[in-house]
Amino acid sequence: MEFQSIEEVMNRLEKVGYIASKQIATVVFLAAATKKPILVEGPAGSGKTELARALAKCLKRKKIRLQCYEGLDEAKALYEWEYAKQLLYTQMIKEKINDLLAGATSIAEAVERIADQEDAFFSERFILARPLLQAISSDNPVVLLIDEIDKADPEFEAFLLELLSDFQVSIPELGVKKAVHIPLVVLTSNNYRDMSDALKRRCIHLYIDYPKPELEKRIVGLKIPDIDSRLVDRLVSAVNNIRNLDLKKRPCISETLDWAQSLMVLQIDDLTPQVISDTLNVICKYKADADLVRAAAEKILCST
Ligand SMILES: Nc1ncnc2c1ncn2[C@@H]1O[C@H](COP(=O)(O)OP(=O)(O)O)[C@@H](O)[C@H]1O
Ligand SMILES: [Mg+2]
Repeated sequence: MEFQSIEEVMNRLEKVGYIASKQIATVVFLAAATKKPILVEGPAGSGKTELARALAKCLKRKKIRLQCYEGLDEAKALYEWEYAKQLLYTQMIKEKINDLLAGATSIAEAVERIADQEDAFFSERFILARPLLQAISSDNPVVLLIDEIDKADPEFEAFLLELLSDFQVSIPELGVKKAVHIPLVVLTSNNYRDMSDALKRRCIHLYIDYPKPELEKRIVGLKIPDIDSRLVDRLVSAVNNIRNLDLKKRPCISETLDWAQSLMVLQIDDLTPQVISDTLNVICKYKADADLVRAAAEKILCST
């Protein structure tokens, strides 16, 4: 057993810089105990990718990451034949190949002789293992992060489903490769599109929402230890109020951290409407959002 209790998950994650809510720690505990993948959804900057990093660190496992994007296919995710290397080898053993073909009376015969040597070229030596194959063939158990799965095409999701249920892959030239160790899999999604029910069924689902103020204060305190705790209180409740505005992109934990860091660098120890106006580029990524926040600056602060 990787973890003995939910509390142990929380403690070990905190030691490596990740503050997990009870909900997050429970999911991690169950996933580790049942060897099921975790599907983490939630807004950008809520700590989805970071959870995988922290898990690898606290379990002292290597993290293997597959970043998903439109058009990602098996060749880039699983394995491909190293064509350039095969070609290089054929160049280098040209003489041997000439010997092999010596005396062949027809093209068909020459092809036949070459074909007999196929195994030499479609062997482990010429396979380029991509993240998924690396994760299942690693000698030590790893954490496999499949990041932003919602960016990949639905066909890729279907292919992944198979891998996540059997933890084995079939390579026609080499046969079936079973996982040496079942990796701890973390899939993340920013909800660009809905994941299939089949994928959700296969995984333990975790939704990381905007953090409660208590949790967010602890995260800021952990990441920026020198910050004044009164400023943290003001900052976190201001961010909470900002999240209630009708914004295109609401600030998440990463923006709160960036904002806190910026105030530290600027040696500002209190929030005022002027400070908000001067620094809001750190938390707002759209002009319309910045305008909204600037207009509401007084209101954002008055309830803090
Ligand atoms: N629970 C947490 N504990 C500590 N740091 C966190 C936590 N959640 C988010 N962060 C911080 O917020 C930043 C953004 O997190 P990230 O995992 O990249 O977001 P996401 O992948 O959800 O878009 C990271 O730099 C991380 O340090
Ligand atoms: Mg991420």
